[in-house]
Amino acid sequence: MDIITEINRLRKEKNAVILAHYYQVPEIQDIADFVGDSLDLSRKSADTDADIIVFAGVNFMAETAKILSPEKKVLIPDRNAGCSLADSCPPEEFRKFREKYPDHIVVSYVNTTAEIKAMTDICCTSTNAVQVIESIPREQKIIFAPDRNLGDYLNRLTGRNMVVWDGACHVHEEFSLERILKLREEYPDAKLIAHPECQKPILIASDFIGSTSALLKFTDSDPSKEYIVATESGILHQMKKHNPGKLFLPAPPIDSTCGCSDCFFMKMHTVKKIYHSLNEEIFEIDVDPSIRERAVIPIKRMLEVSG
Ligand code: 13P
Ligand code: SF4
Repeated sequence: MDIITEINRLRKEKNAVILAHYYQVPEIQDIADFVGDSLDLSRKSADTDADIIVFAGVNFMAETAKILSPEKKVLIPDRNAGCSLADSCPPEEFRKFREKYPDHIVVSYVNTTAEIKAMTDICCTSTNAVQVIESIPREQKIIFAPDRNLGDYLNRLTGRNMVVWDGACHVHEEFSLERILKLREEYPDAKLIAHPECQKPILIASDFIGSTSALLKFTDSDPSKEYIVATESGILHQMKKHNPGKLFLPAPPIDSTCGCSDCFFMKMHTVKKIYHSLNEEIFEIDVDPSIRERAVIPIKRMLEVSG
């Protein structure tokens, strides 16, 4: 059996789409109907007329798709595809934290569980965070959750003084400035480009800071030929596809001999698991209707603000 032929047959027969995040392995990105960052994928899952969405991303992304399209069957090929950043913000602790700031509204990054979204006023992604924050009156006090690096970066960029939850992503926190600077000695013309979930010293040393899709767009239009990329290594596949004449080097993490930075959770999916997911209609994502009812509001507000 040719697995790709079978996937193509099943997706047609079942009116299914495969949505993949930029951090998926290249083979999955290449068979997906649509590849994008978390904002693109939430827009796509709201707009598709497919009956089934196979979500090659992590749980919070598949949950967002289900919240936006409750009538659709949303499947995730490996149910253990969690997110260390979403896990760094447990709902009960966040509820108590929020109670300490009764006059603040909550802006949360989409990298959260549905329960956190249900306690949120407006969501954002790294692509539209500035736009979302600037849509809120300056005098309004804000709690930002869950990523401390992104929150601090946004405070510096927007001049706000948001109270920031102390969470982080295991991939983006791991980049080593020391090793990056060593790599720069070998490639003195290489530009350092970084996702705002990276720690402040990495951001200060960067030539460009942006969300996954902003980094991709930057390398498409920028005249340089070499880049050190401080985000999950999956995006390098699209960067190389868009610009085959350029050199893209993954930024080295603190503790690794492989010189690459993979999200353990994103990389749980395989083409074979996508086949099983489509064939057996596993693993179905469900969101409690009472949580969904509240969680859909901040996601829709975000989509309205960012178009
Ligand atoms: P994006 O918003 O850039 O897709 O980020 C998703 C993510 O998981 C970052 O670690
Ligand atoms: Fe979560 Fe980090 Fe993986 Fe993104 S890269 S899904 S934030 S653990």
